[in-house]
Amino acid sequence: MVIVNKVMCWCSLMALKFKKRSSVIATYILITIILLASYYLIALYAFALTHTLIITSIIVSLYIISPAYVSNGFAVLFGRNGHPIDGGRNFFDNNRILGDGKTIEGFIGGTASGFIIGYSLYFIVTNIILPSLIENQTYLNLLQQQSFLDTLSSISYLTIFVLSIGALLGDLMGSFLKRRLKLDRGEPVLFLDQLDFVLGALILGFFFMKFNLLIFLTITFITPAIHFISNVIANLLHLKKEPW
Ligand code: CTP
Ligand code: MG
Repeated sequence: MVIVNKVMCWCSLMALKFKKRSSVIATYILITIILLASYYLIALYAFALTHTLIITSIIVSLYIISPAYVSNGFAVLFGRNGHPIDGGRNFFDNNRILGDGKTIEGFIGGTASGFIIGYSLYFIVTNIILPSLIENQTYLNLLQQQSFLDTLSSISYLTIFVLSIGALLGDLMGSFLKRRLKLDRGEPVLFLDQLDFVLGALILGFFFMKFNLLIFLTITFITPAIHFISNVIANLLHLKKEPW
């Protein structure tokens, strides 16, 4: 994982140096291949351990990251016609610092929604769902995996807030990077658009809660997958023109 991180940092630095779009695309293909290869190895290893481990880790991961999903989604709702965080100012490279897509209203409304909805979910899970699971021996065995229990018990109002605000800070970092690559607001960048907010939430969350490598990998793997599947469905339902 450390190696993957180093390679990713190195690739982003490279991407920043190159101005040509094709070099950026090539860099992303390289990152994708490295990520997929490492996921494949980890998945093989995890499957050799137990099938249920994967399912449990997907459920626990989705539950943990939900405040980040909510804050990122609600930012769109609150941010419509809002005031840009960068106040319309440019960076040293004469491109916008963040762009019009990052607003004060979106940031505050998104963080608040992530916290309120995330906390409600946490309340329901700890008071209704977990007690009923504990009565059922099969599920109890799954949850007794110590690392999952550690993760679940490290969740609190503070970590839910950290995940919500972390997601939008990651989203700001993503836009900052896109503006440095001279990309206009809304121009798609594969993986950066889908992962900036989860990485922001996980990196900030790392200082406040416990989660293992499997949870980290599951979240970063399922987020682009969910994004892709939901877009394909939206395309089939004729809600969206392109299937991506
Ligand atoms: N949004 C906002 N404030 C934020 C985050 C998002 O107002 N802090 C709103 C904006 O209306 C934005 C929309 O949510 O257009 C979608 O967010 P996103 O895809 O992250 O922004 P883009 O418009 O695609 O801009 P960028 O190229 O910077 O990602
Ligand atoms: Mg976008």
